[in-house]
Amino acid sequence: MNKALRILGVLVLLAILATLALRYVPVRLTPPNEALAADWKAEPGRGEYVMRAGDCMACHTADGGSPMAGGRGIASPMGTIWSSNITPDKDTGIGNWTLDQFRAAMVDGVSASGAHLYPAMPYENYRFMSESDIRALYGYLMTEVKPVKNEVQATQLSFPFNLRFGIRAWNWLALSGDSAFKAASSDALQSRGQYLVEGAGHCAACHSPRTAFMAQDGTRVGDANFLTGGVLDGWDVPALRGANAPIQKWSTAELAAYLATGRNAHAIANGEMALAIEHSLQYLSDHDLSAMATFLKGLDGQAVQDVPTQVAMPGPRATPAADADQAGQATAKLLTAASPDMPLGARLYLDNCAACHFVTGKGAAEIFPELQGNTMALGKDPGPLVSVILNGTAVPSTDRRPMRLVMQGYADRLNDEEVAALASFVRSAWGNQASAVTPQQVAKARSAKHGE
Ligand code: HEC
Ligand code: HEC
Ligand code: HEC
Repeated sequence: MNKALRILGVLVLLAILATLALRYVPVRLTPPNEALAADWKAEPGRGEYVMRAGDCMACHTADGGSPMAGGRGIASPMGTIWSSNITPDKDTGIGNWTLDQFRAAMVDGVSASGAHLYPAMPYENYRFMSESDIRALYGYLMTEVKPVKNEVQATQLSFPFNLRFGIRAWNWLALSGDSAFKAASSDALQSRGQYLVEGAGHCAACHSPRTAFMAQDGTRVGDANFLTGGVLDGWDVPALRGANAPIQKWSTAELAAYLATGRNAHAIANGEMALAIEHSLQYLSDHDLSAMATFLKGLDGQAVQDVPTQVAMPGPRATPAADADQAGQATAKLLTAASPDMPLGARLYLDNCAACHFVTGKGAAEIFPELQGNTMALGKDPGPLVSVILNGTAVPSTDRRPMRLVMQGYADRLNDEEVAALASFVRSAWGNQASAVTPQQVAKARSAKHGE
């Protein structure tokens, strides 16, 4: 036989063996990362708290459906993945699952049937949760959630993504070896924050970039790209660390307030982040919110100041509108003078936006976000900014701050040229420095219809 043919034969044989191995060699499950007594019991309320920290309800509840009964479609580049029923119903939920089977789903992404779960279920992050939290969560789902019979629509992706055993190979590339928590700091508060951010909070699922295999590039503190910014539905997700991350200019207390309420003196959360706050983060204790803020502020080794003991204190917040600062003075003067030959973008801002965001671009703390230095306004990709101008947006409503203020959209009032001029103005006013926006980019955002 000729040599090339022989090599080809060996390769084909290896490919067949690899496929069979992927399919039939049993998966080695990750053991518990903490030794607990068999009769260990979580304190009352802990399981529900872990569920909130992990945001299980958001993905596992369909619009108008029963809590945790599944059937919410999660969009992925490969197609829609339907979330499972995780109520304790014995036929259609996880009522017959053992603790070990539940841990396998959370830590290794393996269902009780042995099938591999799609990583739309964020086990890349949940694997760092402690055994005690996993047991508390299991206890909560099994005993405190109402069993609901609901056969969830089967996920049907196209070939080769329909071959679930292929996810096993992906897991070899994507999952970092063990699941033990490794505190990066000796400070107890920062460690608690690290634990929540890396594990249950699954912040890296959106705030870390992705590798060529679509795995999270950076799931833990030591990873170079951890929380350096990601992409979601084609939109940039802000970096949370590094000198250029806007939140590193916020105080620790302001960052904690943002996580608790989606608003502070600088920004207001939109889209997926608003949902994460409404469904999950707002339920965390002041201690845990401070812990996460302290961890994020200290992530690159900075000293952390003004650690809050109480987050987003209630009380009158009607702070007077701030004066323009040095960088903002020229723009404020231009807008205040309102001369007839003002450039188009500035005039549109004055007519449509200044009533709320003010000529200073400073907005009003917790009510109208600051546009000077604003992450969304300055984004490399102007898509989110243009989309907010076109479609409007609403402030998240939380227990600590229930009022839901709304900004209406301008899609019907402004054409593509006008929105481009306005967005370009916002990106260059008050010392802002970001690229100009073209009418073509506006047209694209208009047809994309991204919404909340
Ligand atoms: C970002 C969305 C998302 C979040 C958040 C999420 N899940 Fe999931 N989960 C999914 C999807 C989607 C599936 C189905 C994956 C599949 O079919 O491969 C799933 C599957 C599961 C399964 C496997 C069920 C089965 O029948 O095989 C369990 C158990 C589970 N999730 C528990 C949880 C728990 C507990 C939490 C909160 C800590 C949680 N999930 C949070 C999306 C999510
Ligand atoms: C489902 C995706 C998703 C998850 C999960 C998520 N975020 Fe976000 N986050 C976003 C998006 C998108 C934005 C931008 C929101 C905006 O433009 O208003 C954002 C914005 C932020 C901001 C404000 C950044 C700025 O510069 O204005 C902070 C702080 C933040 N996230 C922290 C976190 C933390 C901490 C976690 C984990 C507990 C987390 N996020 C989990 C998607 C997510
Ligand atoms: C009636 C008051 C009002 C007017 C007028 C208004 N806005 Fe807003 N704007 C808000 C509120 C409230 C929010 C916070 C909602 C949110 O971000 O979830 C907001 C949010 C934004 C954001 C998102 C910033 C962030 O950090 O989340 C941008 C950008 C923005 N506005 C730009 C504009 C522009 C440009 C105009 C003029 C076309 C304008 N706004 C007109 C009230 C207003």
